[in-house]
Amino acid sequence: MVLPATLLAATLVGSALAEESVAPAPNGITLPLDYKDWRVISVLQRTDNDTLRAIVGNDAAIAAVRSGNTKPWPDGAMIGKLVWRAKARPNWGDARVPDRFQEVEFMRKDRAKYPTTGGWGFAKWSGKRLTPFGDDANFALECFGCHTLVKDNDFIFVEPAPLP
Ligand code: HEC
Repeated sequence: MVLPATLLAATLVGSALAEESVAPAPNGITLPLDYKDWRVISVLQRTDNDTLRAIVGNDAAIAAVRSGNTKPWPDGAMIGKLVWRAKARPNWGDARVPDRFQEVEFMRKDRAKYPTTGGWGFAKWSGKRLTPFGDDANFALECFGCHTLVKDNDFIFVEPAPLP
């Protein structure tokens, strides 16, 4: 099907505006507008709550992965985690596939800006409407508290998935 150019343009502009109108996290971090174009670092499934996750990175994060420069991650690296409820694939029941979108979370490395949380800024938006998570900027202390478990891995849980 060929879409008339005006309709196509309206569709593209419409989705870009929706993203730009998403409210920032309480600590001021704004939704990175290009996160859907970031590349995959790893994928995982949580069996306890039946969710699927894609871990993605911006250009700086991917460059760090490819050059093995992730301990520590460089300033400018941003890592995203996209979470979906899982469901059985209708035409292949053994496969779990993404169902409803649940949330997106980010960690942004900036040692000068976030010295009290391991050099990482945290942000999270929930649901299809991308509602910012947290009542005030202190929400990041909860994120950081749990990520301290992997302090020796620069506060990052996921290892880049092996590639040939
Ligand atoms: C109770 C523990 C816990 C809390 C609280 C928590 N996380 Fe995580 N986070 C994890 C675990 C475990 C992973 C590994 C991936 C997974 O299990 O989905 C992870 C992964 C991530 C990742 C991908 C990078 C990585 O470390 O692997 C980001 C980004 C992230 N979390 C952001 C946040 C943000 C933002 C908050 C606060 C709003 C937060 N996390 C709070 C446990 C936690």
